[in-house]
Parts: sequence; C-alpha cells; structure tokens
Amino acid sequence: MVSKTYLQKNSENALETYASFPIVLDHGKGCTVTDVDGKEYLDFVAGVAVNILGHGNIRLAKAIGQQAERLMHCSNLYLNPVTVDYMDTLLAYSGFDKAFFCNSGTESIEAALKLARKWAGVTGKAGRDIIALNGSFHGRSFGALSVTGQKKYQAPFAPLLPGVRFAEANDPKALEEAVDDSVCAIIMEPIQGEGGIKLLSKAFVEKADELRKKYDLLLIFDEVQCGFGRSGKLFAWEHFGIRPDILCMAKAIAGGFPMGGILVDKRAAAFKPGDHAATFGGNPLACAAASVVLDELTNKGLLTHAEEVGAYLGEKLEELKGKHPHIVDARGLGLMRGIELSSGSADVISACIDKGLLLVRAGSEVIRFVPPLIVTKEEIDKAISILDEVLSQ
Ligand SMILES: Cc1ncc(COP(=O)(O)O)c(C=O)c1O
Repeated sequence: MVSKTYLQKNSENALETYASFPIVLDHGKGCTVTDVDGKEYLDFVAGVAVNILGHGNIRLAKAIGQQAERLMHCSNLYLNPVTVDYMDTLLAYSGFDKAFFCNSGTESIEAALKLARKWAGVTGKAGRDIIALNGSFHGRSFGALSVTGQKKYQAPFAPLLPGVRFAEANDPKALEEAVDDSVCAIIMEPIQGEGGIKLLSKAFVEKADELRKKYDLLLIFDEVQCGFGRSGKLFAWEHFGIRPDILCMAKAIAGGFPMGGILVDKRAAAFKPGDHAATFGGNPLACAAASVVLDELTNKGLLTHAEEVGAYLGEKLEELKGKHPHIVDARGLGLMRGIELSSGSADVISACIDKGLLLVRAGSEVIRFVPPLIVTKEEIDKAISILDEVLSQ
C-alpha cells in the first residue's frame, strides 16, 4: 500500500490542523478520483464545493498552462488583460459595480469586513458594529472567525474582534432586536454550509433588507460556498431577489485554482488606494482559470445542467428519507444538499468511502452533497444506491 507511506510521513510532519481521511489521492477525471493505490472514488465532495468542472478538465488545464507560459504573475503594480477582462465579464453577469480579487474565502471576508468599517467611516455613520448569525462559518482568520457564530471555533482564540454581535438565523424578530444605530453591516450565508446546509428563509432575508434601508447599513452575503452555480443559480441571492451590497466569493470561482474576491455595489465602494491589497490577488493564472469556469457556467450550459441535476439529487434524497427513518431531514438547493441523521453520520460516511463514495459532514450529523456541477443523473443514482445500501445495514 503506497498510501501508508504518505500517511505515516504526513502524520510525522504536518501540524495537526486537519482531521484528514486516510486517503491519498493521485489523479481524477470528471467526478471520479483515484488514490495512489489505484482505488477509485465517486467524488461528492469536490474539494469541498470547489471543483465544479470536475477533475482533469482539459480546457481549464490548458488555460492555466498557456497563461503560465505567457505571464504567471505581475502584482497589482501593473495591469494584465486577463484580469481586466475577467473582472469586466464577471461584473456584467453579476450586476455588481466593482470587484476586488484575493486568494481565498477567508480573505474575501476580511476584505468585506474592512470595507464595511471603511464605508461607515466615510459616510459618517456613528456605528461600526457588525451583526453575524449563529451557526455561521466565515473562515478562520481573526476577522472571519470573529463573525463565525460557532463557539467551538472561536473559544480557543479569544479575544476576537470587538463590535461583533450575533442573531439567531431565520428569526426575523431576533434580527430586528439586534440591529440599532450602532450597526454598519449584517453578514450572512444565504445557505449556511459548514453550519449544516441550512437555508435562510425569504422572510428573514427580507427583514435584513428592510433593516438595511431603515438603518442605512450594508448587507454582506458570504457566497463562498453557495456561489457560482452551486445553488442552481449563478449566485444564491437570486433565489431571494435581494442583492447584497457586498458579495464574498471563493471556492468554485476558478474551478480549483486558489482565488477569492468580493463584488461590490457602488454605494459601498469606499476603498481608496492603500486601504486593502493582496500580492497574489487577481493573479493572471487564477483569472485565466476563472474565465473558463464563468464561460462554462454561462455560455456552455453548465448552470442549466446544475439546476436540473440539482433538482434530481433533491428528489432522490427525499426518496431516501422516505425509506430510512433515521434520516430526519433532507434539505438544500441545487447541488448543495444535506441529509440530517438522528445519529451515526461519521460511520455512514466511512462506510460510503469504503464502498467508493466520497462524502463529508457539515455540522455534527449532516452529510453534505456538493459534487462537481458536471455530475450526471447516472452518477447521482450510483451515489444514492451506495448510500441506500449503507443506510440499510
Ligand atoms: C461560507 C464560507 N465562508 C468562508 C469560508 C472560508 O473559505 P477559505 O477556506 O477559502 O478561506 C468557507 C470555507 O469553508 C465557507 O464555507
């Protein structure tokens, strides 16, 4: 077993930040990945909602390779056509006015929080407080962690950023009570990912919109996990018809190449030179990859496909729920779905992995389904049949 050597070496060398599965992956094609010992897995994790074009996508690989030969990095001291064109196209499709690119979801949250505070200063608002939601996950830097409403992530690292308060998700009254003149922004995931695939209700998002108008504050949507076609629409805010002032993005944006960013409405565009930066942000390799991803979503039918197969996955998970009483809930949108078990989700996932299906948890008892958006109905059937077999045992 070649994997044993790597697992041993890694356990000796790596800081213990990850509770990785004992799998060493070698390569992938489409929705299938193969480990160093030759075992194949159907991948319903996709690098945690990242590889939306699947693995081994030739167009994506070529775009990155060709750009690498031309210009790999040039910093933000200079412009390059790939980044300028990609930003222009993304703004056109998303309807936002301005953009900033960085390298990860956490960095996109940092940018959004800083922008909100800067905006509050520029507009002369007295308040600098930020409201976040219980159960949220926004990343692990001090800023992002400060708005992450889960004690288990926050507790070891206190004290965190001052001026952050939490409200209960999907409780419009609690949100209303939390907001006053001291608040400059509300941050939320339209679909809470790590918190257990929980959709915000329309009434709750509408209340946030109402409070935005009443108190003249910014609405920040963290679409790091649910953006770029994952929910069946290009961005999840479209399901609510309420556009945020700042949208955070990362994960799927460049199909697996590290990239993040924020999209900003002109009213919130308060940054001036020197306020914020990232050496690698908007790197031409990342933007070459992101251009392919956006083109596949918008011009090559991937968004339509994701919406269709996402609905199919939803039906199949509902059927499974009807059959297995220990599935207490099946929820989600598009290809971002979860089933909540009464108990034993870790064991179910291990048994599925043994049978060649990669799955991952979201929260303690929720099994998450975030396959590549290219997944077929046949692959969904295969995943469901493995899960059905495991749950029947
Ligand atoms: C909604 C959300 N926001 C932010 C992050 C942090 O992103 P990253 O790990 O790219 O820093 C994540 C990561 O899982 C996430 O799901």
